[in-house]
Amino acid sequence: MLLDVFDKRRSVRKYSDKTVEREKIIACLEAARLAPSACNSQPWRFIVMDEPSVRERACVAALRGIVGINAFLRDAPVIIAILSRRKIYLDILGKYFRKTDYCLTDIGIAGEHLCLQAAHLGLGTCWVGWFNGRELKKALGLGKLVKIEYLITIGYPADAGSPADRKKLNEIASWNKDGFK
Ligand SMILES: Cc1cc2nc3c(=O)[nH]c(=O)nc-3n(C[C@H](O)[C@H](O)[C@H](O)COP(=O)(O)O)c2cc1C
Repeated sequence: MLLDVFDKRRSVRKYSDKTVEREKIIACLEAARLAPSACNSQPWRFIVMDEPSVRERACVAALRGIVGINAFLRDAPVIIAILSRRKIYLDILGKYFRKTDYCLTDIGIAGEHLCLQAAHLGLGTCWVGWFNGRELKKALGLGKLVKIEYLITIGYPADAGSPADRKKLNEIASWNKDGFK
């Protein structure tokens, strides 16, 4: 059941030394590629970093000034940077008419497709939203039109971890009535 994959997925921050096969990474990217997006804009781009020297350089940049937290980035066998390449008309529509950010929503859906496919293949992942994007962008030599929105670490879990708490269904869903303030 698909629900079993959702249940199995959790943020993994400790990885074993086992190399992650490129075919598995490609399957994860394929899952992300198939994600829906506003006006089918597909604003996502992915940079896969699985070579130690590239990862090391990226981590130094990404963690510059980020004291303490997210140090586990250094031990992840694979880091994927998710970039956005925005469409101006969708930004205008979203910002002025709906006060929403379609692009970031799309990025989130694609990223989670990737994580769920990884879980299905026995891999652990963790979203990383707290990093030095400006330094990392410089280190990767990226152009003006793209922004690094998130990093996702991937590797075989060193320990299974325990599930994080979730709100109960009746706290987050209501049937046929306005249950929320
Ligand atoms: C957008 C986003 C950003 C996140 N950023 C970080 C981060 O910077 N560092 C980290 O350790 N975990 C990060 N996480 C992971 C969350 O802490 C985690 O998903 C949450 O605690 C629920 O735990 P679970 O993923 O194991 O179910 C992030 C998750 C999301 C969705």
